[in-house]
Amino acid sequence: MGITVVGTGYVVVAGACFAKLGQNVTCVESDSAKLEALRHGKLPIHEPHLKELVAAHIHNNLHFTRHPKAGVMASDIVILAVGTPPKADGSADLSQLFNAARQLAPYLNPHTNVVIKSTVPVGTAAALRQLLARLRPGLKLNIVSNPEFLREGCAVQDFLKPDRIVIGSTATADLGPMLRAYAPLQKSGVPLATMSNEAAEMCKYGSNTYLAMRVAFINELSNLCEAVGADIESVTQGMGLDRRIGQHYLKPGPGFGGSCFPKDTSALLAMADAAHVDFSIGRAVVLANERRKSDLVGRVARAVGGVLTRKTIAVLGLAFKANTDDTRDSAAIQLVQDLQARGAIIKAYDPAVKPKGLGDAALCNSLPEALAGADAVVIATEWDEFRKMNLVDIAKQLKKPVLVDFRNLFNLRQARAAGLSYHSLGRATIRNASNGKQRRTSKTKIKLAAIA
Ligand SMILES: NC(=O)c1ccc[n+]([C@@H]2O[C@H](COP(=O)([O-])OP(=O)(O)OC[C@H]3O[C@@H](n4cnc5c(N)ncnc54)[C@H](O)[C@@H]3O)[C@@H](O)[C@H]2O)c1
Repeated sequence: MGITVVGTGYVVVAGACFAKLGQNVTCVESDSAKLEALRHGKLPIHEPHLKELVAAHIHNNLHFTRHPKAGVMASDIVILAVGTPPKADGSADLSQLFNAARQLAPYLNPHTNVVIKSTVPVGTAAALRQLLARLRPGLKLNIVSNPEFLREGCAVQDFLKPDRIVIGSTATADLGPMLRAYAPLQKSGVPLATMSNEAAEMCKYGSNTYLAMRVAFINELSNLCEAVGADIESVTQGMGLDRRIGQHYLKPGPGFGGSCFPKDTSALLAMADAAHVDFSIGRAVVLANERRKSDLVGRVARAVGGVLTRKTIAVLGLAFKANTDDTRDSAAIQLVQDLQARGAIIKAYDPAVKPKGLGDAALCNSLPEALAGADAVVIATEWDEFRKMNLVDIAKQLKKPVLVDFRNLFNLRQARAAGLSYHSLGRATIRNASNGKQRRTSKTKIKLAAIA
């Protein structure tokens, strides 16, 4: 079966995976540099297992082109996977999607499944149906909403073994091509949820906003844990064992970022505003996350004694999470900028990111290079390389043995044994006194006045 995928950003994974499932896939990309790289089997993104997948299919059933004509004419399914970035008011900018549709329209066959994989607000499929009916009057097309749930960093695995496949359409649509394309996954037991286009569109925003809410919730709970002397790691362990809650997205961190949660929560709020619905919990999530990100700099300042001016801070990790090079809305990037604004000198290191636009930050090529002579080290991204660090070695390489861990990668015992001052999230702080002795501090326990 022929499948065309328009847009080869992070969702290029979908094209490569459909090729693995045996389909003949054409990926259309308008960015010349990205296209040239892909044609030579070079990936413009860091995504585990993707390079091997592309290499296995590129001279066979996976093609990259700028021109949609041949692919679209030979396809039963045309997938739109272009960007839907936020506009200034937070709503989704659908211009890439509708422009792509205009470019493809002349080449579409009757009964083609035109599939929206991009994350789009409710009503987009209906608008696309109208647009294509205008451009190709009389042509019977099926407009399908098939939101993508893959996560960067484990996208190949997520695509090939998803928790579910969501397919939205009108009741009368012929979904034959879609069902055939996903048949191998369905045979391996992946549930397929069919619904209206509108429900499928909302399903994606509902999922992402719910997950973002869990992250924001646990971050605020970790603040409370710090204030009252409870350990967030024990708390989440106890909470997560409840099957109604589970362990996922229950880890305190520097605030959610990336290309999906921030833009999708904002787009959901814009959708709610337009529908005159007060989605107050969504607003609280956005606010809590912004506050979390902007609080990080103060935590680093406190760890180094209050003053950041001319202090050298090694920042480990720039990507918004491990195993990706995506820095869009990354808490680490905001932290670097906030530290610089307060006069700190930054040495940054990330195993996958070659960042631009970080002012005069020194971008290091290795962990030891970043650590050498720093007044403190801050873990911003949970890369395995950082998790495996030997804390005794770290303490030796730093000018001052101060570790600020925004991913709680280490336990307090390890940090204490290494002689570090250790500042993490939702837990007691290990402080190195000037005499070299350590003390563990947690904030005041709640005074139970009524009992006392
Ligand atoms: N990144 C993720 O992890 C992820 C996960 C699930 C869903 N999504 C959704 O999928 C969509 C794409 O996300 P992304 O992160 O890959 O976006 P992206 O911005 O990284 O990539 C979009 C690509 O589409 C290309 N493009 C735009 N218009 C084009 C056209 N007319 N013809 C050919 N190419 C065109 C752009 O050049 C770019 O390479 C978004 O709606 C996003 O919300 C993303």
